[in-house]
Amino acid sequence: MKFLKKNSAGRIDLEDYVSTILINSDVTQFNLKGSRTFEANTVELQKKILEFANIPHEPQYIHVHPKEFYPSVTITKEEDVSEEKDTKEKSLLEAILSSETQPSKQLSDLFTILSTRRSTRKFDKTKVEDWKVDKILAAADTAPTAGNFQGFQVFYVKNNKTKEALVEAANNQPYVNSPVVLVFCMDPDRIKMKFPPNILEKFSLQDATLAAAYAQLAASGLGLSSIWIGMIDEEKIKTILGTELRASSILCIGYPDKKKPPKSRRKLKELVSIIE
Ligand SMILES: Cc1cc2nc3c(=O)[nH]c(=O)nc-3n(C[C@H](O)[C@H](O)[C@H](O)COP(=O)(O)O)c2cc1C
Repeated sequence: MKFLKKNSAGRIDLEDYVSTILINSDVTQFNLKGSRTFEANTVELQKKILEFANIPHEPQYIHVHPKEFYPSVTITKEEDVSEEKDTKEKSLLEAILSSETQPSKQLSDLFTILSTRRSTRKFDKTKVEDWKVDKILAAADTAPTAGNFQGFQVFYVKNNKTKEALVEAANNQPYVNSPVVLVFCMDPDRIKMKFPPNILEKFSLQDATLAAAYAQLAASGLGLSSIWIGMIDEEKIKTILGTELRASSILCIGYPDKKKPPKSRRKLKELVSIIE
């Protein structure tokens, strides 16, 4: 609609990662998955669509995000679009990410974080500041997700009884009862893509895992440490949290009792198989 209103040419990649609509000044080409390519006269199409837009109906704008590879198409309400244009206000996410409460600047370099991060299973009793938790959650929210549908959910567990129950659901690993406990769950129903359920399930597992990884790195960047808990009983966690969502991992965060150097890894040469 935006393209047609502006008389401009362009390409729309649809969320199935296959279908595209190419709008040229003369012809608009629809390459839709499962259908042969068909074309329409752009001027005619424009006339029809703009006429349709004038018939009273629920207005829906197609909003194309300028992503590098797969612009995602989402439907937003008309008011949302004008709001986006009119206000230059920061979103809560941006505000949290850009807040200036960073204590040690040198830790914020990504490669420093990567090369110094070390898991901790012993946390000291110091309370983790709320602003740091906000930053960690905001960092999780910046992770890429399949189709940008954010197919995951985070449970931030503050309740001590719930933390104790999670210890039991995690094969009795005591350090799960840590200052900050985040349970990352898969939410495949959020992913509105026409793929088989097993693919959506896989996407949501990857979404939840990536988000947890971003949160873990953010925690390190803030001078905290963490332990990733993958040994979990999904059914028990569902009952504890009162959700039907499957947990993929628990991230336990706090100030480390002792600062330790990072663990060694296999040689990079052994890790990479080059296919030439
Ligand atoms: C998928 C996954 C599952 C893990 N599950 C557990 C777990 O259940 N309990 C635990 O103590 N550590 C767990 N860990 C933490 C790893 O043991 C730890 O990250 C690894 O030893 C490397 O140490 P580093 O994080 O300090 O580099 C898990 C890590 C990953 C990535």
